[in-house]
Amino acid sequence: MGAGIAEVLARGGLAVVGIEVNQDALERGRGHLEKSTGRAVKRGRLTEDAQREILGRVALSTDFADLADCDLVIEAVPERLELKRKVFATLDGVCRADAVLATNTSSLSVTDIAVTTNRPTKIVGVHFFNPAPVMKLVEVIRTVLTEPAAVDRVAALVKDLGKTPVTIGDRAGFVANRLLFGYLNQAAGMLESGHATRDDIDSAMTAGAGLPMGPFTLMDLIGLDTCLEVLEAIHAETRDRRHAPSPLLRELVTAGLLGRKTGRGFYDHGAPKDEAPVQADGPAPVVGILGTGALADAFAALCDRAGAQVRDAAADLADCDLIVEASGDADAGRELLAAAAQAAKPGAVLAVTSATVPVAEAAMASGRPADVVGLHLPDLLSTDRAGALAEIAETVATGPGVADRAAELAGRLGLTVVRCRARAGFIVDALRFPYLNDAAAMLGAGYADPDSIDAAMTLGCGYPTGPIADLDRLGIDRAVAVLRALHAETREPALAPVPLLTEHVTAGVPIR
Ligand code: CAA
Repeated sequence: MGAGIAEVLARGGLAVVGIEVNQDALERGRGHLEKSTGRAVKRGRLTEDAQREILGRVALSTDFADLADCDLVIEAVPERLELKRKVFATLDGVCRADAVLATNTSSLSVTDIAVTTNRPTKIVGVHFFNPAPVMKLVEVIRTVLTEPAAVDRVAALVKDLGKTPVTIGDRAGFVANRLLFGYLNQAAGMLESGHATRDDIDSAMTAGAGLPMGPFTLMDLIGLDTCLEVLEAIHAETRDRRHAPSPLLRELVTAGLLGRKTGRGFYDHGAPKDEAPVQADGPAPVVGILGTGALADAFAALCDRAGAQVRDAAADLADCDLIVEASGDADAGRELLAAAAQAAKPGAVLAVTSATVPVAEAAMASGRPADVVGLHLPDLLSTDRAGALAEIAETVATGPGVADRAAELAGRLGLTVVRCRARAGFIVDALRFPYLNDAAAMLGAGYADPDSIDAAMTLGCGYPTGPIADLDRLGIDRAVAVLRALHAETREPALAPVPLLTEHVTAGVPIR
């Protein structure tokens, strides 16, 4: 991270002094800088001359005294408060009295660092995102002690570097990590409980929610030790057990499997890449669609695009390979499915699409529970990603091979298929609505405004849209319904929809 920040500053035309603990660490830092700028040269983003100039602006040293002339110092040492305090005590001794001292901490309290220095008014947080040369967000953190001029100077510098500053107060996780890490930890818990596989969870969040990386790829990029530290710090403030690090994460860290930087974490980065999954072929299936609302129409349009024959009259279901209950209404859907189960041929797959009504309940009511799976297409109604992903959920009553058949049929409809157990929200909604609830809670608590929250996630983590925009796009009524289903299933207090959401649903007005 230190090398990434040094690169950002040097690319911005500033003279940089990079300090490391010893010569070996300095050489590693130099290697990072050369590799990262070299990658830009290879991609034609930087000329070799410009690379040389950038590298020439970074002087590397192991002597803190070389920082004596600096206007700003950014500390990026490991996340241990005692170590950071020691570094700041040294900086206090060598730096000019008017120099601003910043910490890139992602988890510790900036105030805890500031109070042990001789210049608490000049201590700020500048939180960069990984990879620092790429991600556009920098969170600028002010404590109750920081003088406004120091915050303004740092925010102006961040802007001059071509990044977007979001200035906020000192709370564990700030904006982006506070919202990101509950989700990452929940994904680790899902994997550990056998709800779905690593690859299916990662695919679900990229293909289904449009994220640039799935949670396990991202944790490996961040570093699992850092993930653990951030979660511990957030948990220490929130005491929310959703932030208590997943035992799996802790075990990987104990084993020294820290992600990309050690070559192995959730993934083995040395292993040959998995081959792309073979696209399901065979004729498009005959699909029966139950229901007449927007969901049924959207599913029918998707089948049309895939060249599948669609039957929507109860009398025509006998030759269907797949019958999809898409009424959008639990009671009506149950009746429609029970009638369809009587008409369906042996071997037909019956699929229920509700992510809020337990699949097992619908399966038992159908009279043919062995043939029933859950089928969820996140965003079918709300984006142009509609239909990219099909989540197939099996219950304990689903017969052997039925979910495989469902997956194959969905593949023949051109969908990317992931599998999971039949739990509220399947994968995508179970992971994203708690995150959206947390964003609404942050907004309701007045910690950050909607633009800052959205910028944190789009510019810091590459999300296609921010959470506040997502709530309006996906529908706050849907958010409340999914959260209520998640809460009913888990009784996890933090999964109950926050008052801001229920209030907006009652009032019928969007969040913005
Ligand atoms: N260092 C430098 N540059 C890098 C890089 C790295 N490690 N990885 C990628 N890049 C550059 C590439 O050179 C490329 O640049 P150009 O467009 O100028 O050619 C660009 O990034 C895109 O790279 P790729 O095409 O190879 O890969 P991609 O399209 O898959 O994008 C990504 C890679 C930008 C990392 C993208 O996957 C992404 O946005 N992921 C999410 C990352 C994220 O969430 N970061 C925040 C983590 S939380 C955190 O850091 C805070 C904390 O406190 C822990």
